[in-house]
Amino acid sequence: MSINKIMVIGAGQMGAGIAQVCAQSGFDVLLYDLNEKALNKGMNIIEKLLFRAVEKERMTETERDGALRRLTPSNQLQDAATCDLIIEAVIESMEVKSKVFRELDEIAPKHAILASNTSSLPITELAAVTNRPDQVIGMHFMNPVPVMKLVEIIRGLQTSDETYLAIEAVGKKLQKTSVEVNDFPGFVSNRILMPMINEAIYTVYEGVASPADIDTVMKLGMNHPMGPLTLADFIGLDTCLSIMEVLYEGFGDSKYRPCPLLRKYVKAGWLGKKSGRGFYEYS
Ligand code: CAA
Repeated sequence: MSINKIMVIGAGQMGAGIAQVCAQSGFDVLLYDLNEKALNKGMNIIEKLLFRAVEKERMTETERDGALRRLTPSNQLQDAATCDLIIEAVIESMEVKSKVFRELDEIAPKHAILASNTSSLPITELAAVTNRPDQVIGMHFMNPVPVMKLVEIIRGLQTSDETYLAIEAVGKKLQKTSVEVNDFPGFVSNRILMPMINEAIYTVYEGVASPADIDTVMKLGMNHPMGPLTLADFIGLDTCLSIMEVLYEGFGDSKYRPCPLLRKYVKAGWLGKKSGRGFYEYS
């Protein structure tokens, strides 16, 4: 199956990053968001990053202009009718994602693949709301998408080999390293990453050390590029909590219990970098 035109649903941090990388790699891309402000913000961020890439001599002006030309904003879900692949990157809610998948299944051409960038929700369940479960798959990118080399490709129970191979080829064209993962709570990345972050939050909660010192231990002691609490703020504490809930519910094991301090921060609206406050303050 040949994939030429891609629609990305949701112009937030992840959606914009995915759209940028797809346009840079030669695909025609539609970046969709219902919210005009979010769409403009996503488009502006992409433009800024592409100009910066030229300044840093990672890209030529011709490559930048080509990427910008291939990228079009959209506020019409109906535009999915012209696409070969639709990558959904909306909020981590089964209800919202299911609604989007149901609508896309109605609109997208028969051959189109529906992919989700979900960080932990079951692909099999999303596939089940469509009439093409064999053409539904997970494409889990890492934040910041233009920088991180990995994409987890998640096979739902009914994902066909043809769909998997088509998405693996897209991953290659995007110059990402892909790994094949079966549908299980948290996949591989968040099954391992989130309990570490949650444990770091328990370490704050129990007064073992300050957030800055915990991050220093992991940065200098384990050579992590960011400490776990800085990373939690960067990912968003609401996202961290929702992933922990998926692990806790999916495995039914108390080792995945979200830390009460994480719940408290999310209830307070301390969502990390995006809200200006999490374990650290941001101006
Ligand atoms: N978008 C695009 N490029 C970005 C960027 C962004 N948001 N943030 C940083 N960069 C680029 C910078 O432009 C810079 O490139 P140049 O050197 O060419 O200018 C490069 O990345 C390095 O940036 P900095 O020098 O500013 O800072 P740094 O060296 O600390 O790197 C980082 C920043 C790449 C984010 C690094 O700290 C890192 O790798 N952190 C860990 C990130 C991580 O673990 N991500 C996975 C999160 S989990 C996830 O996404 C999945 C999930 O489901 C929750």
